[in-house]
Amino acid sequence: MPGLHGKRILLGITGSIAAYKAVEWLRSLVKEEADVTVAMTEAAERFVSPLTFSALSGHGVHRDLFDEAPDRVMAHINLSREADAILVAPATAQTIARLAHGMADNLLTAAILAARIPVVICPAMNSFMLNHPATQDNIRRLESFGYRIVQPNSGELACGEVGDGRLADWDAAREALLSLFQPDDLKGMTVLITAGPTREALDPARFLSNRSSGKMGFALARTARRRDAEVVLVAGPVQLSDPPGIEVMRVTTAEEMRQAVVGRAAVADVVVKSAAVADFRPAAIAGHKIKKTQYGGHLDMVKNPDILAELGAHRPLGQILVGFAAESQDHVSEGQRKLREKNADLMVVNDILGVQTGFDVETNQVTLVDCRGSVALPLLSKEETADRIWDAVVQLRSGPAGI
Ligand code: PMT
Repeated sequence: MPGLHGKRILLGITGSIAAYKAVEWLRSLVKEEADVTVAMTEAAERFVSPLTFSALSGHGVHRDLFDEAPDRVMAHINLSREADAILVAPATAQTIARLAHGMADNLLTAAILAARIPVVICPAMNSFMLNHPATQDNIRRLESFGYRIVQPNSGELACGEVGDGRLADWDAAREALLSLFQPDDLKGMTVLITAGPTREALDPARFLSNRSSGKMGFALARTARRRDAEVVLVAGPVQLSDPPGIEVMRVTTAEEMRQAVVGRAAVADVVVKSAAVADFRPAAIAGHKIKKTQYGGHLDMVKNPDILAELGAHRPLGQILVGFAAESQDHVSEGQRKLREKNADLMVVNDILGVQTGFDVETNQVTLVDCRGSVALPLLSKEETADRIWDAVVQLRSGPAGI
């Protein structure tokens, strides 16, 4: 099941000006078809009306520990029994302190104390409050309980100061939630992933490139992070923003990608080369825009380095090497040939003829090829495809079973 669809989230809102951002977060959760129940503290209600949250969630908002409505009996116990995860956003210094000391003096803190489900805390406050040793101690205590902290951003704060304490972006909170529902089977591993096209300049105005959007590689990076890997993503020129919690190295040409990849590959447990690297580049880059009258009817090209083949030739013992292949026919035999020639463990062969597969779409249809055989996956979202690739990598690392 993709994303947060069907997940039951208890959204706890506390008294910070950032409570207005929780309205947008709730909208995003509902759009993704998560089932969201909202609990607000009294202070939160001073910033945003409960009516806003009940209208958007489609459920009444839980506010009072001593609410006598029949369906709210023992609400502090039932709230967490009826949810898969708790998201507290924004979490004030006060609520963090209460939770750190096991206090249960309002409905939200009582529900969290009684919970047996994962808790994600998104602090938001003035930077002096955040950096005060008391708050930092409290945050560490929450981490020691197993709560996941989504670190706040730096920037201009509502109080006019500039510093740490802005509520994190929704993307970071969403990733934290998604990781709760994934195995942590890549924990302790460093994975190096390439994504997107490369761009080879012809003159100051023109370049050669391809239609890769980077979506497949970024999906691999996000899903690996959710499974607890340390992720380094080397990305060609794409329009996608950096996924949270991932080191992103931006490059342009195949040679730049080669340098970035070779520089990091030696310490990677897994390398996945989903980038569509240009095989050729113009032999020379003209210093000025080439005029129509100067063009002689052909373009001199030279070969780019084959990064995957180079990695395959010098791979450290135990490293898993995964290549991609964009093919329009003979998927399995082409995958087997590239597997052999590039000394890879796994080739992910794309069907690039379908309208919903390959370049610049949200879905993909791939065949996984290793030395023992091949498995054709159905048409899936790129994130679901990425998860199936990580399943195969985990199998390869754990022994000779094959795909
Ligand atoms: O980015 P998206 O829009 O989401 O599209 C995804 C994708 C279609 C680009 C991706 O899924 C994909 O198929 N990537 C690999 C495309 C490709 O370059 O295939 P290839 O058969 O030309 O190369 C085989 C392998 O060698 C690839 O792992 C490639 O990264 C690597 N290679 C190729 C040439 C080169 N000079 N150096 C390389 O490392």
